[in-house]
Amino acid sequence: MSMLTRRQFVQVGSIAAAGLLAGCGSSGSDAADAAPQAADGEYTVVNEGKLTCISNLFFPPFESMNETTGDPEGFDIDVSKSLAEHLGLEVNWLPSQDFDTLVPTIKNGGKADIAIAGMTITDARQAEVDMSDPYVDSNQSIVVKAGSTETAESLDDASKTIAVQGGTTGADWADENLPNATKKRLSTIIDAMSGVQSGLYDAVVCDLPVSRYQIKMSYSDLEIIEEIPTGEQYGIAISKDNPGLTAAINAALAEMQEDGSMAAIEAEWFGSEL
Ligand code: ARG
Repeated sequence: MSMLTRRQFVQVGSIAAAGLLAGCGSSGSDAADAAPQAADGEYTVVNEGKLTCISNLFFPPFESMNETTGDPEGFDIDVSKSLAEHLGLEVNWLPSQDFDTLVPTIKNGGKADIAIAGMTITDARQAEVDMSDPYVDSNQSIVVKAGSTETAESLDDASKTIAVQGGTTGADWADENLPNATKKRLSTIIDAMSGVQSGLYDAVVCDLPVSRYQIKMSYSDLEIIEEIPTGEQYGIAISKDNPGLTAAINAALAEMQEDGSMAAIEAEWFGSEL
């Protein structure tokens, strides 16, 4: 299968991408440095003229589906649009998939160019795929029902159920730090939060920016009892067979920092909170 799909790959001239980057940059040294990086090698995309993206679209405000249209929306979606613009491509979003299938899908190739999913850069993931330079800092959090007397200590007990999203760094943190608690692996963090709300589970371990946003927007009856400074950073997953694309994405991310596009996206989704 990969032979066939590979033939459908489209060569994208690196000169064009480099020209675009140089063209929209100022004379600042960062922009000047960014262009040759993209020119280092050519890259391929799975659909001609498009940056095809995958994610798990149940992780607001990084990614979710618009309630009316069903279209993907969120911080990462805006980042993907800006990346595509900086590369002279059109953005192309595929339907949501389970978080723990994203890295294997990118590794196997042929379906999507990037996974952008609030995905923490970890050694295990970097062994499978390339991760871009970091574009968001994050931490973990423990969320319980508001007014609950639970603590990290009281939760570390077999009678307590901790809900996590399968395959995430939050799930890893719970395994390591709440070894005695019962873990419930769910396919979305929304299911985890709703389950705590309805009393099915005692707590959720989840990325702090997401738990803060969710409590503010939809779960006012939940609260964060602990912020855990894991010092995580999000990156974009790209196939190791496509190093030119990693270079081009990194150059575009640098350009987005430089030209204010990233700051505008941060302001849009987090105000001053990020
Ligand atoms: N940052 C965490 C991780 O990388 C959670 C990411 C979950 N993302 C999502 N789109 N559901 O494991």
